[in-house]
Amino acid sequence: MAQASQPGPSRPIKPAGKLPYWVEPAFTIVALGGFVIYSLWEVLFHNTGTYHNYVSPFFSPDVAGWFGFHLLTALYVVWIPFVFRFSCYYYRKEYYRAFTFHPMGCAVSEPKSHQNRPYKGEWKINNLHRYAWYLAVIVLIFLWKDVVQAFIFPNGFGVGLGSIILLINAILLTGYTFSCHAFRNLIGGRKDCFSCTAHGKKTLRYNLWHRVSEANAFHGAWAWASLFSVWIADLYIRLLIMGVIHDVRLF
Ligand code: FES
Repeated sequence: MAQASQPGPSRPIKPAGKLPYWVEPAFTIVALGGFVIYSLWEVLFHNTGTYHNYVSPFFSPDVAGWFGFHLLTALYVVWIPFVFRFSCYYYRKEYYRAFTFHPMGCAVSEPKSHQNRPYKGEWKINNLHRYAWYLAVIVLIFLWKDVVQAFIFPNGFGVGLGSIILLINAILLTGYTFSCHAFRNLIGGRKDCFSCTAHGKKTLRYNLWHRVSEANAFHGAWAWASLFSVWIADLYIRLLIMGVIHDVRLF
């Protein structure tokens, strides 16, 4: 006997224990919007991000210095992390929901004016993101060089609060970069069954893909943590340069 079809829910179901759907977009507007405004202030009004052995992530690598440019020096490098984050699969979901309400959330109806516009955010800039990933890895290598430099003081090895902040920042950015969906594709793509090779043994590539997949499950957390760490690292160095605070030397 045919089963009678059940009527669907007339409004979005809020899973038990979950926050209302608008909390995440509201957080994105405040956090991402605040970071963009701060970045504009930093990039447009400052031409150096170096304080002794500390270099702000906004100014590293010193591309402007290589070419002898003295104005808007951060601009020559910040476009890379900007394009990388702007084209990030996770951020795209977040800012589409937060700033365009298109789509606003799972099972949440869109404003009437958006309902006939197909959502194209997922496929339009995927290729751009893949290329941005390669450039972001190059920038990351320089940030790790800056971490080493942050532990070398005029009297030798030392640890300042700035050294710790830059170290944490590089760790979080590494987690963000290597939990990327595009990197996971790079490692695991173009093979139908890479766990089936090597006579039933798991290949190095399979194990690597497995690790990246584990990190990828937390890509959103890596994304926010690394954004805040960049913000904190730059702000700390900016306040040192302005003489508002003094570095705390721990060792
Ligand atoms: Fe977010 Fe690649 S998907 S950095």
